[in-house]
Amino acid sequence: MTSPSQGGPLQEAPLLEAPLQGALAQHAAAIERTLDRLIAPVAGGEARLIEAMRYATLGGGKRLRGFLVVETAALFGAPATGALRAAASVEMLHAYSLVHDDLPCMDDDDLRRGQPSTHIRFDVATATLAGDALQTLAFEVIAAPETHADASVRVALVQALAGASGAAGMVGGQMIDMQGESRSLALPEVERLHALKTGRLIRYSAEAGAILGGASDTECQRLAAYGRDIGAAFQVADDVLDATASEAELGKTAGKDQEAGKSTFVSLLGIDAARAAASRLAEAAVSHLAPFGSSASLLRDLAHYVVERRS
Ligand code: IPE
Ligand code: IPE
Ligand code: MG
Ligand code: MG
Ligand code: MG
Repeated sequence: MTSPSQGGPLQEAPLLEAPLQGALAQHAAAIERTLDRLIAPVAGGEARLIEAMRYATLGGGKRLRGFLVVETAALFGAPATGALRAAASVEMLHAYSLVHDDLPCMDDDDLRRGQPSTHIRFDVATATLAGDALQTLAFEVIAAPETHADASVRVALVQALAGASGAAGMVGGQMIDMQGESRSLALPEVERLHALKTGRLIRYSAEAGAILGGASDTECQRLAAYGRDIGAAFQVADDVLDATASEAELGKTAGKDQEAGKSTFVSLLGIDAARAAASRLAEAAVSHLAPFGSSASLLRDLAHYVVERRS
């Protein structure tokens, strides 16, 4: 693990506004407890599968997507139980995307969240199946009555998550990302790749709270625009961190994009221009929150954190 003298995440903590730091930690702990309950260990032949699902999901990650669900739900006074279930659900979907992203046939990454990737700790077949099962469990959780009493709200969540995750969302973006290893993509193509592989799930996370809280169409659109821009800023920052942060800071292998010949904001624009683009996107995200006033101050701070983070 990183010691503070090595300049690891502990030393970077002052980058966070104090209220945001507290809220991130508090929501992350509540999401962790919810995930722990929803992915309970079992006996029998499938015990190893559940163990791999728990390994991939529990005990790490910034929980940014879950935080967005909880905070946007709070804007509309939606009950915490449903918000935490939806937050755990999107973190399962995200964990599945990371498990598959790290597989030898994808980014071939051995390190994730400071630990061996799931296919290293278990094996490729178990990791593939754990990802599959996390994906279906994510939908099972939001489809259940415990998430919201109104079935039409649950259907809206399922539909939104499916759209964000599939061929028109994360998986489609991953396909374009893999193609970017063998040919150089132009900037508009990389922007689209970011919007799909990362942006759609982050946008969903911001919309999910609005759906749970019965927000108006206009409010839903504002939060969708916030989520779209913060998602784009987040992936540009990820590209910058891949080129500038250490393995100890990231908890994942550094320098992978260049090694794989990926087309990224950094390969196309250089580090300084990529950083500037991330800041512009974060400002754009903040601009959509104006009508929510001071109740959205943590969401504003989050937009700045997304581009200033070191992990
Ligand atoms: C990593 O996401 C994958 C990308 C979309 C860039 P995060 O940086 O949110 O990963 P965790 O959940 O904090 O580990
Ligand atoms: C992955 O993007 C986005 C996903 C959909 C998982 P990256 O390949 O850049 O994510 P990291 O850098 O491995 O976390
Ligand atoms: Mg990848
Ligand atoms: Mg990767
Ligand atoms: Mg990356």
